[in-house]
Amino acid sequence: MENPFSSELIETSDGSYTLKLKGIDEQYHSVKGALQESQHVFLESGLNAFEVLPNPLFILEVGLGTGLNAFLTGREAQIRKTRILYEAIEPYPLEETVLQLLNYPQLFKEPWGDELFGTIHAAGAEKYENFKDWFFIRCFPVKLQDKVFEAGKYHLVFFDAFGPDTQPEMWTREVFERIYSSMKPGGILVTYCVKGDVRRALKATGFEVSKIPGPKGKREMSRAVKPLLNNQMANKIQVDENFNI
Ligand SMILES: C[S@@+](CC[C@H](N)C(=O)[O-])C[C@H]1O[C@@H](n2cnc3c(N)ncnc32)[C@H](O)[C@@H]1O
Repeated sequence: MENPFSSELIETSDGSYTLKLKGIDEQYHSVKGALQESQHVFLESGLNAFEVLPNPLFILEVGLGTGLNAFLTGREAQIRKTRILYEAIEPYPLEETVLQLLNYPQLFKEPWGDELFGTIHAAGAEKYENFKDWFFIRCFPVKLQDKVFEAGKYHLVFFDAFGPDTQPEMWTREVFERIYSSMKPGGILVTYCVKGDVRRALKATGFEVSKIPGPKGKREMSRAVKPLLNNQMANKIQVDENFNI
């Protein structure tokens, strides 16, 4: 699919790189620090919000892009020795020449950073690519609007689309309803966006939505939780009996 978003590489305030869209004020990550934003919004406020991490943990990411969120998650899986199955959607994969300019593995000391980054961007839709015993990733080259989801699959959703001013079609109640049904009860969706319309659409879908402290340079972000079923207890579903890759 031809990428309608042409972009250029920029360095952000914490030394990590991101891509800036040409002609509009929109980036893949915050200019105040791509790494710190990704770490705060998706890892600290998403993955670390589970009192007990489900094992295996099923994650959906909307917009794989540079792979920074996936890279930080794969690192976490390897460091914690916890199994994570990561499914990303990306209709406009970045070219190899662009990926080679991104400096994410170099921001960390682990000798396996390049291998993890390579595994993420080699992933296709057919089967999971694995990084060691802990991180398994697939990437679907389709638009979110065209993706058919399995019901009740994901514990955690990283909703990392371009903002609603750039891509309003990504932030609709219809889209959130499809994502909601793809999540397990007690599942968590995190996004950097706190726009009123978006939060209202999430609430109308059935999520319990809260504004929580945002990353550096942004006061707030949103966390949406799919309510548990009657008499179900938080974090009860830890081991998926049907785990099969
Ligand atoms: C804010 S950037 C994502 C940043 C990414 N998570 C990262 O860490 O680099 C938004 C991403 O959504 C992707 N995207 C654009 N249209 C999409 C669509 N219809 N469905 C799914 N993803 C889309 C873009 O190509 C881009 O990679």
